[in-house]
Amino acid sequence: MQLFDDLEDFGSFDDVVSGDVRDPYTELARLRREDPVQRIELSTMPGDNTKPLFIAYRFEDVQQMLRDNQTFSSAIIIQAFGDVLGRHVMLGMDEPEHGRHRALVSRAFAQKALAKWEDSLVGGVGNELIDRFASKGSADLVTDFTFPYPTQIIAGLLGLPRKDYPQFQRWSISLLSFTINPERGKAASLALEEYFTPILAARRVEPRDDLISRLAVAEIEGEHLSDDEIFSFLRLLLPAGVETTYRSLGNLLFGLFSNPEQLEAVRADRSLIPQAIEEAVRWEPPLLTITRIATEDTELGGVAIPEGSSVMPMLGAANRQEDRYEDPDTFDIFRPARPNIGWGYGTHVCLGMHLARLEMRVAINLLLDRLPNLRLDPDGKDPHIRGQVFRSPTSLPVLFDADPGVRS
Ligand code: HEM
Repeated sequence: MQLFDDLEDFGSFDDVVSGDVRDPYTELARLRREDPVQRIELSTMPGDNTKPLFIAYRFEDVQQMLRDNQTFSSAIIIQAFGDVLGRHVMLGMDEPEHGRHRALVSRAFAQKALAKWEDSLVGGVGNELIDRFASKGSADLVTDFTFPYPTQIIAGLLGLPRKDYPQFQRWSISLLSFTINPERGKAASLALEEYFTPILAARRVEPRDDLISRLAVAEIEGEHLSDDEIFSFLRLLLPAGVETTYRSLGNLLFGLFSNPEQLEAVRADRSLIPQAIEEAVRWEPPLLTITRIATEDTELGGVAIPEGSSVMPMLGAANRQEDRYEDPDTFDIFRPARPNIGWGYGTHVCLGMHLARLEMRVAINLLLDRLPNLRLDPDGKDPHIRGQVFRSPTSLPVLFDADPGVRS
């Protein structure tokens, strides 16, 4: 069994988690046209009652099912990942339980609440990471920047001591690799709970200005989050808030580097960054698909779906639908603004989208400000976006004019 204890193992971690699929989109486009709600038989023997699996490829069908959380329930997420994330994870709840839970945590993730973290925490983490390589004139922006960046920001938001960041990063990697190494994922899940238990107890007695304290004291009409709910939420922040963001930031950088005229436009006019972020999430959502389960016999796009079937909305296919986005396979930050579904939709729409946008905006500004003439290294090893479920570049070798003032 492979171990992923250190960042040196990052390549193998990413190999196993993402697989080396460069272009899933040609096949996704064919299915979107020819079999937009695809039925896949999972039963192997006559008399086997295993329910079929359905995959929805068209934007309208994806939107319809995500809007209807009663028929297309998220409970399947607890069945699949409850062992690692915990049984009280909001991602796997349905209404009304989900709404109550989300209301208790959502204030901390509102745009206004996040603003104060911009310079001190987000900018601080970004600058510190850049300090380590700014004098070298070259870097791998995935291992040196995009991967550690959101983990350290989440650790900072939670108010964890700096000395614990490396350990937190190791647990993150273990938790993120749980699909391929469940034992390791479960061990990290337990270790995280043991680590958070005394911190949560201390914050309940003496709240500070951090996310754990806010979760501990959050109250609506006399209701609080239980310890179990808080632990589940904290664990969810790693796959939900780290994996997605580092991948999206890598995809955005790759989109800009491979379209130098767009990179130049953004370098010259930073007000283009928000639309570049949305285009990156449309063009290459970090997570191609999510999952639901049908709670009753139903129908989607004219296809009958029996109760108990898994139904997967293929976000990556919906985001490249020809009749919504002209020339959909092209990364184009200047395309007409139109919502995409890479952030999800409906009651579970990404809770951390404002944080993710803030992190990506700050990162692009810092990288462009501090690394003059930043570009892909022409001798680098063929950087590309890859993956069948999670997608991003494993490596982004870059060159820039070294800053002699910074000691690495
Ligand atoms: C570019 C970065 C991101 C993308 C593309 C993204 C995408 C998504 C998607 C597609 C969902 C819906 C899942 C479903 O319906 O089953 C989701 C939910 C969620 N995301 Fe994000 N996410 C990103 C960043 C973040 C960050 C930075 C955080 C927090 C720190 C975060 C926290 C969450 C949470 C807590 C949920 C569950 C919401 C709920 O169940 O109501 N995400 N995200």
